[in-house]
Amino acid sequence: MRLRISPESVLERIALKLNLVPTPLVHTQIYFIIARAIMAAADLNIFETIGGGSKTLDEISNTAKTHPTATRHLLDCLAGIGYIKSSGGYYSIQSKYRRWLLRDFQSNITAKLHFQFNEWNWMTNLENYIRTGAAIEIHTKMGPSEWKDYQEGMKVLSVNAAVELAGKIKLSPTASEMLDIGGSYGLYSIELCKKYPALSSTILELPAALESVNLLTAKQGLAGRVKFKAGDAISDNLGDKVYDLILLNNVAHHFSAEENRKLAQKAARALKPGGMFGIGEFALRAKPGEGGVVASSSGLYFAMTSKSGSWSTKDINSWQKEAGLKVKKPINLLRLPGWSLLIATKSCIALSPETERN
Ligand SMILES: C[S@@+](CC[C@H](N)C(=O)[O-])C[C@H]1O[C@@H](n2cnc3c(N)ncnc32)[C@H](O)[C@@H]1O
Repeated sequence: MRLRISPESVLERIALKLNLVPTPLVHTQIYFIIARAIMAAADLNIFETIGGGSKTLDEISNTAKTHPTATRHLLDCLAGIGYIKSSGGYYSIQSKYRRWLLRDFQSNITAKLHFQFNEWNWMTNLENYIRTGAAIEIHTKMGPSEWKDYQEGMKVLSVNAAVELAGKIKLSPTASEMLDIGGSYGLYSIELCKKYPALSSTILELPAALESVNLLTAKQGLAGRVKFKAGDAISDNLGDKVYDLILLNNVAHHFSAEENRKLAQKAARALKPGGMFGIGEFALRAKPGEGGVVASSSGLYFAMTSKSGSWSTKDINSWQKEAGLKVKKPINLLRLPGWSLLIATKSCIALSPETERN
């Protein structure tokens, strides 16, 4: 995906074509103002107050308990980027944004927008990171409220992706065990357990993640089939020939290459013969600049907040191959453009312990 500046008139088209517009100003000042304006409108319940209908400024500021003039400036800014429509003194939310911003919709991402206030603060560390290479290592630094925001944010991002991914993952109908490493709320596990009635899942999560929110409420009637286990994927033993499927979705970017390599080996050991190990990431393309802005910008962000950043498909497949797994065709999702589940499977022929050790 790319971000483009679109001209609104012939004059602007000519100015952009002749490179007369100071585009770095658009990419910085304008982008950071609109980013914060959308987050503020979500967090201050402005979008929720307008809802699916239309409201006057007084109605909005009275209900949201915000300052009328300041609220008008916010709404004007949001109208400038097409989020809000204004007509005859009434404001409404542009229909295409309602499903992302209103809590009535299962697809709403307001919890992620709320988590972004934490991410906004973390970004102030960027220059220090570039100068020194010292990442924040958020998983060792967050307090309880940041952990809660983090997990709630992850939940809303995976709601729709989990349904699509579960629809595309093909397991044997007799598949009985899966391991969801860093599975957070476990929505990927829940959707897969709904699809495969014989399947149970263990979500291996850091203790602080499990303490931060009541993840157990997420089990959705799958009593006993979705379990949470406090642990650490880096140091824990994952077992031997236990799982039909191991997922590592959006976690590898937190680990170093060496950690991922060793984790792939532990995962390979923990798979049953014929089992599948999927690593889901916004993978980087081989050449910088290719593959759009999502993997590259999140790569920088993950590097600053954790320790590694985005990986390329080649990197990920190399860990899987070195672990003795056979790389298969990746799964791509419509709901997460640029994201892939990179799949590798264990041979169906069970090796002797001697061969496995070598
Ligand atoms: C970006 S979130 C992804 C959550 C979920 N897999 C998804 O795709 O929505 C990364 C998750 O990995 C967990 N995590 C990080 N380091 C871990 C470790 N060493 N062992 C287990 N989980 C870990 C975090 O707590 C967090 O919930």
